[in-house]
Amino acid sequence: MAVMTSLITQNPIKITQITDTHLYGEPSGTLLKMNTNETLGHVLELVKANEDGIDLVLATGDITQDASEQSYVNFLKIVASLNSPFRWIPGNHDNAAVMQRIAEGTEANEKTAQLNNWLIILLDSSVLGQVHGKLTKTEIKFLTSVLRAAEKDDSIEHCLITMHHNPVPGNSAWMKDIGLENGEEFFEAIKISKKVRSLLYGHIHQELDFEHEGIRCMCTPSTCIQFKPNVTSFSLDRVNPGYRSLQLYSDGSIESVVRRVSGETFEADYNSPGY
Ligand SMILES: [Fe+2]
Repeated sequence: MAVMTSLITQNPIKITQITDTHLYGEPSGTLLKMNTNETLGHVLELVKANEDGIDLVLATGDITQDASEQSYVNFLKIVASLNSPFRWIPGNHDNAAVMQRIAEGTEANEKTAQLNNWLIILLDSSVLGQVHGKLTKTEIKFLTSVLRAAEKDDSIEHCLITMHHNPVPGNSAWMKDIGLENGEEFFEAIKISKKVRSLLYGHIHQELDFEHEGIRCMCTPSTCIQFKPNVTSFSLDRVNPGYRSLQLYSDGSIESVVRRVSGETFEADYNSPGY
């Protein structure tokens, strides 16, 4: 089993999720005309204004847009300003091997974290060079072995699983082929555990909070461009970038809120037919 960080901390446990930062090696880089370095800066200011005593920061993929070493170095430097324990997982725009190398020897690459009676499990759903996601046989095996061990471990009562891709189909026709290819296999695999409470992801750049097969599923807005929900073809939404704050209680309940930057207008190519 992978190295596990175990921590006794406050109740509730405080988690901050930032996702789909899409940074570039050059801080002037833009995604559909939006400067992703600048919008991340605004989101982090919002985090600092609203969160204190963060137990864990989760960066759930599409850390960068160009997968350059420099973009990851930039990201790590920015996120370090939160002074909080931190984990990251790759998305479709990332290079998982580069992320592993850059954060080698740090906790950022660890795939589990136990906080009080909660176990956070981080999965790599990225397929290099592809937009869609898939959990490899190795990753499914890792997941089932961790869940099996957690079932027998009385110190763990609840699990939260996070990955980049949406394992539940997206709500727009154009998203049909970009989610987790083996979502059904994933939901089948987690049935071995009675402790899985929630699933957290990004990828489709919008706020969602719903239940699927008894699991609370939450999708979190990007720190840059936003995708309009419930549309046929790709469309940018004019809502501002944001992040998700989660409070995990010892009884298994979760309080969560998405906070978006306010009082700012960000330039973007709102008529773009794709990204
Ligand atoms: Fe993304």
